[in-house]
Amino acid sequence: MNAPVMQGLNLNAPSYVKNPKLIAWVADMAALTKPAAIYWCDGSEEEYQRLCQQLVEAGTFKKLNPAKRPNSFLACSDPSDVARVEDRTYICSEKKENAGPTNNWMAPSDMRALLQTGKDGEKALFDGCMKGRTMYVVPFSMGPLGSHIAHIGIELSDSAYVAVNQKIMTRMGKAVYDVLGVDGAFVPCVHTVGAPLEAGQADVKWPCNKTKYIVHYPETREIWSYGSGYGGNALLGKKCFALRIASNMGRDQGWLAEHMLILGVTNPQGKKYHVAAAFPSACGKTNFSMLVPPEAGFAGWKVTTIGDDIAWVKPHADGKMYAINPEAGYFGVAPGTNMHTNPNCMRSLDKNVIFTNVALTDDGDVWWEGMEKDGGGLPDHLIDWQGKDWTPAIAKETGAKAAHPNSRFTVTATNNPALDPEWDNPNGVAIDAFIFGGRRSTTVPLVTEARTWMEGVYMAATMGSETTAAAVGQMGVVRRDPFAMLPFCGYNMSDYFQHWLDMEKKLEESGHTLPKIYCVNWFRKGDDGKFVWPGYGDNMRVLKWMIDRLEGTATGSENGFGVSPAYAEINWTGLDFSQAQFDSVTSLDKGAWKQEFALHDELFTQLAYHLPKELVETKAKLEQRLTA
Ligand code: OXD
Ligand code: MN
Repeated sequence: MNAPVMQGLNLNAPSYVKNPKLIAWVADMAALTKPAAIYWCDGSEEEYQRLCQQLVEAGTFKKLNPAKRPNSFLACSDPSDVARVEDRTYICSEKKENAGPTNNWMAPSDMRALLQTGKDGEKALFDGCMKGRTMYVVPFSMGPLGSHIAHIGIELSDSAYVAVNQKIMTRMGKAVYDVLGVDGAFVPCVHTVGAPLEAGQADVKWPCNKTKYIVHYPETREIWSYGSGYGGNALLGKKCFALRIASNMGRDQGWLAEHMLILGVTNPQGKKYHVAAAFPSACGKTNFSMLVPPEAGFAGWKVTTIGDDIAWVKPHADGKMYAINPEAGYFGVAPGTNMHTNPNCMRSLDKNVIFTNVALTDDGDVWWEGMEKDGGGLPDHLIDWQGKDWTPAIAKETGAKAAHPNSRFTVTATNNPALDPEWDNPNGVAIDAFIFGGRRSTTVPLVTEARTWMEGVYMAATMGSETTAAAVGQMGVVRRDPFAMLPFCGYNMSDYFQHWLDMEKKLEESGHTLPKIYCVNWFRKGDDGKFVWPGYGDNMRVLKWMIDRLEGTATGSENGFGVSPAYAEINWTGLDFSQAQFDSVTSLDKGAWKQEFALHDELFTQLAYHLPKELVETKAKLEQRLTA
């Protein structure tokens, strides 16, 4: 292919790139951002190693001790660039009401002026933003290559950290161009750390900019990200594409893009079920997706991982809904992960990992809070995520965390010993149940089956959760997080509820079986402020009850909220959990529910535009049952 030459910069498009629209777009973006060079990623192992080595030389990566953690690296970010920036994240739909009240909005023309074209003598942010840097052209498929549920994206980024993380997190490389062909569609994603380098200027190890914009144009399906190198803001296949843009695609095309893990659960007779479960960020999706059933009482049960964060779910002609994991790796929260909370994850992290913002041990390995529970206790000395000395004494005195609470690992799915054999199946897996769970110390019971799709949608729409470190902002305050999609729904939230409700009609009309819907809460606390439910592997006990419901072997007991297990219906073998403890995580408190419904009212007032009236009617019925 003849490479266009622009302002002395050779586009260098490889001959296997045959899509003129893509080449023209790269040329346009290079003209705007003015990189020093363009590099087309091929996704090879050799390329990954080479880029990692470059990152080591630049000081961004530290190579970990190969005897302890082979082929693994640690990156420590700028202290200001550690999480998703929800207040800097925009849905720039043509009409403000289509972004809805839960998203930041700016008119596309104003945003384009700010980012691309400039206005009133002001230079556009992307104008020259890649000066002195290499623009990496990163081709990726969200979902198995060529799957009818998958979609292609191309990310242009001036960060090698992004390129290597994308290699792990997506199906990235040359083969994407075969699927794209001459005229295939792709989602254009432009990312810059927003730190141009003048001639002779030395680089910093984590370039970023105080100004940040994470921008989505839903109508034209474009993503523009400025100023951050942090995963959720910079790995544009993940939240930006697979949720915010894909939720728009799903609404238009009749499918669902959800903030859900997908797991397979096989019973001792070899019958397999699949569930997709939504929880807000940093509420244990990765742990649940890799769950190891308790040894006692669960012989022959197996849980396998299809995905840990995102699900694309499509109705199929055979009457079922099929889900794929659009990602190919895990970008999980490190603190709290240990051999008790997630042994499969710990094993996944043995080698070939990129860690971000965890602590460094004196022997060149990594450490984070929670690892002390694996028998080693606290290390005597560490270098914390900000490069400072850390000792147990310093931690006691100052409360300093060795690892940032939102520190992460990036690791390929194939490292996971519990990976489901169907994880890469282009047809996906048939979903039997959806689960929705928030982090609530009170009010919401351990598990409830929705009586109807409508009531399930109500439960999901009104979900609340205590905030975590995954986003910048105050931690531990209850906020409504409908479907765990508050930061990720790329259009008006009430229209999204309508889309879920319409799904029922559409599926029933076409003879589909609707998955059951469950609401769970692993996080109820007792008077002592401690979690009552043991969680982690013991969540299998709840999962098994759901399977029993699917098989029709558990009756459950009806309450105002839906159907919950009777104490005797849970398999308690190997766990000392009394009826009183069970009551304390399943009880429905009238006073608490009165307050809860007042908060649902507030949510519905906020979402009044296009709010489906069926939700308001359902609220009236549930309120009557729960508070009368
Ligand atoms: C994530 C998040 O990184 O939800 O998955 O923040
Ligand atoms: Mn997530």
